[in-house]
Amino acid sequence: MKLLVIGNGGREHALVWKLAQSKDVDHIYVAPGNGGTAVEDKCQNIDIKSDDIQALLSFALEKKIDFTVVGPEIPLSEGIADLFIEAGLKIFAPVKAAAHMEASKAFAKEIMAASGVPTAKYRRFTDAELAKQWVTSQNVPIVVKADGLAAGKGVTVAQTHAEAIKAINEALVDRIFGDSGGTVVIEEFLAGEEMSYLVITDGETIIPLASAQDHKAVFDGDKGANTGGMGAYSPAPVISGEQYDKLVDLVARPIVEELKKRGISYKGILYAGLMVSTDGFGGLPNIKVLEYNCRFGDPETQVILPRMKSDLLPILMATSQGKLNECQIEWNEDPSVSVVMASGGYPGDYRKGIEINGIAEADAVEGVKVFHAGTSAKEGKIYTAGGRVLNVTAFGSTLKEAISKAYKGVACISFDEMHYRKDIGHKALKRNS
Ligand code: AMP
Ligand code: GLY
Repeated sequence: MKLLVIGNGGREHALVWKLAQSKDVDHIYVAPGNGGTAVEDKCQNIDIKSDDIQALLSFALEKKIDFTVVGPEIPLSEGIADLFIEAGLKIFAPVKAAAHMEASKAFAKEIMAASGVPTAKYRRFTDAELAKQWVTSQNVPIVVKADGLAAGKGVTVAQTHAEAIKAINEALVDRIFGDSGGTVVIEEFLAGEEMSYLVITDGETIIPLASAQDHKAVFDGDKGANTGGMGAYSPAPVISGEQYDKLVDLVARPIVEELKKRGISYKGILYAGLMVSTDGFGGLPNIKVLEYNCRFGDPETQVILPRMKSDLLPILMATSQGKLNECQIEWNEDPSVSVVMASGGYPGDYRKGIEINGIAEADAVEGVKVFHAGTSAKEGKIYTAGGRVLNVTAFGSTLKEAISKAYKGVACISFDEMHYRKDIGHKALKRNS
């Protein structure tokens, strides 16, 4: 089979690496891909941007692509699934109306309220004055969210009223997020530990994926600005296995059912960002949903997929065809860890085009796989091309061993101004000990 995978991050490198292992896959085009997907087994990069959905459609028709898999949210929110399905093509991607769960925070909140999913109390505003009046009557910290997609930059956890007012002005008055910011959701601050809960669903059957935890803050000890994710590990010991099994009925099924009631069949990944605190009744974890995404997480995918024993391709294909009930997913018990190596200055401004050394040496460390994120390949050399550059991923029979192998891999790699967190997985280690 000929596949098309859309995106250029570490998530997409992990997806094509996993899909290439399927005996049914002959060739994978990656649009636009990165320095890692350029050389991955069976893979070939093509120069089409992931948000150019018309060009992607023309390419898929011309090459007679058998199946397309979409990584990032932008093409999903633009309706790539609707476009491909209309043209008679098979695709793993939720339709635009379903992807609205990520593209509009106000819509997601409304669906959560209608389906009884636990989440932070909130109000939505389009009028800046009303929003500011209301926010000043509330306690801080308080969270201000631009409604639409804002490349991870639309959320402000305001420690003071002045910060909250600034965020409201930026979104509603200055429109720094464009039309995405025309509505804001203001919600209560939730304390606790975050975890990522991903399920795969065809709109009827729902199968949870292995649990994972991301590290959002840029510096060790969860200090500094929020990023797209500085590292991840799987499984996430923040809740017990028994509690994990209950999440499907708490935060996934109600959403899928509510959307179905509204005529929307959700086919794809539904990823809930959760806040877990232990202030629940009798010390039980109190779980609330922070947001929904309509895609695989990045860097969660880089730790989840290496633990999947099953062939990914038939699972994704069955999902798109409404036959997920015929599938089971088997997991490797061993934990995995991924350390993100980033460009100097990320998540702020950073330079691109810096040569990277030592990737092959890191890949040669037993149990290590380096997924590329922001890289490009030129004449046999690899250069930085983004903020998050590499995801050094490792397996171990224990979390401690996986962490140690991942950092052994990291130690082989060098590029000017690189930085990475040195404490990926440490929170879980403490919990395990
Ligand atoms: P979101 O895009 O809604 O997941 O928000 C991005 C990040 O902001 C989350 O991963 C959290 O770290 C933080 N955040 C969002 N909502 C809240 C909240 N209600 N309370 C505390 N932190 C939040
Ligand atoms: N890891 C955060 C995200 O994928 O949105």
